[in-house]
Amino acid sequence: MREYPSDRIDLRSDTVTQPTAAMRAVMKDAEVGDDVLGDDPTVIELQNCLAKMLGKEAGLFVSSGTMSNAVAIRAHTNPGDEIVTESTSHIYVYEGGGYATLSGCSVALVSGKLGIMEPEGVSEAIRKEEGSLGHYPNGSLVCVENTSNRGGGTCYPQETLDAIAKVAHDNDCAAHMDGARLFNAVIATGTDPARIVRDYDSISICLSKGLGAPVGSVLIGSSKFITEAHRWRKMFGGGMRQAGVIAACGLYALENNIERLAEDHARARKLAEAVGAMEGFTVDLDSVETNMIYVNGDMTALEILEGLAAHGIDVLDVGPTAVRAVVHLHITDEDIDATIAAFSSL
Ligand SMILES: Cc1ncc(COP(=O)(O)O)c(C=O)c1O
Repeated sequence: MREYPSDRIDLRSDTVTQPTAAMRAVMKDAEVGDDVLGDDPTVIELQNCLAKMLGKEAGLFVSSGTMSNAVAIRAHTNPGDEIVTESTSHIYVYEGGGYATLSGCSVALVSGKLGIMEPEGVSEAIRKEEGSLGHYPNGSLVCVENTSNRGGGTCYPQETLDAIAKVAHDNDCAAHMDGARLFNAVIATGTDPARIVRDYDSISICLSKGLGAPVGSVLIGSSKFITEAHRWRKMFGGGMRQAGVIAACGLYALENNIERLAEDHARARKLAEAVGAMEGFTVDLDSVETNMIYVNGDMTALEILEGLAAHGIDVLDVGPTAVRAVVHLHITDEDIDATIAAFSSL
């Protein structure tokens, strides 16, 4: 698929996707209402559809993945609590410290391998106020990220996910999944989404990444949890009125853009293997399970960035000598070939 109003090959992120003509058509025809008053039928349909796909009771449409995680953290915790998450997770690295500002929580970090935590590490990181003579904060929430962005787009093994949720619940903590790219994990592992998230109390799904919608995330959980989350969405200023115009894109994406993620994964693999085999670049092929490629170079990230840009290719610098390329629905086989050729000319 291409349908992109630019001749650049934009591999910076899967968030750069633009709504296709078919998606714009459903947007134009979307039935809408006032979602703050609870009567936008398209938003309701999207929330119910995703909740059903994940085997949970309810959903809440929010503006972004960051807002979805922020609302989830706030709904699960009290000020003075502590959350547990992986040291490179989006919640810790890229959300402005929202867990501290918006929820009054501290954070306990767990080092993962390619972004994937082990249950033992999670267990060691959970601190409980009770029995600590008031020394510790109260660990009350464990957050996993699946797929793990900074881990390279890696997928959690199912037994690890189940064991981490058990550790959380055994310690009286809620378990939240930042599933910004959950459907990439669904396609890569061939596992039903409801099975992946079975033991998780809340899940955040992004529609505006690999799924190709322009805006929006959905927070999923029990009816009780979503009622609480609804209150925090309101207080965070996240109520949207005729949001059905964007929710319609989300519904379109769920119907049309999940299976095709396999194409993105195959293209990412091809690019990773080709660049990883080149002198001057290394790619940890074990990390390339979905649509992301992290490349380390003998040259600086800026040199790689500028060198590729001269060939009409955009990637993101993510470290002094590291860049990231992400494959998405506007990237074709020809684009992958052109990117391989550009890397080999650097
Ligand atoms: C794993 C993960 N979680 C959450 C987010 C936040 O999403 P948004 O950019 O919609 O706030 C991102 C964004 O890239 C992400 O990669």
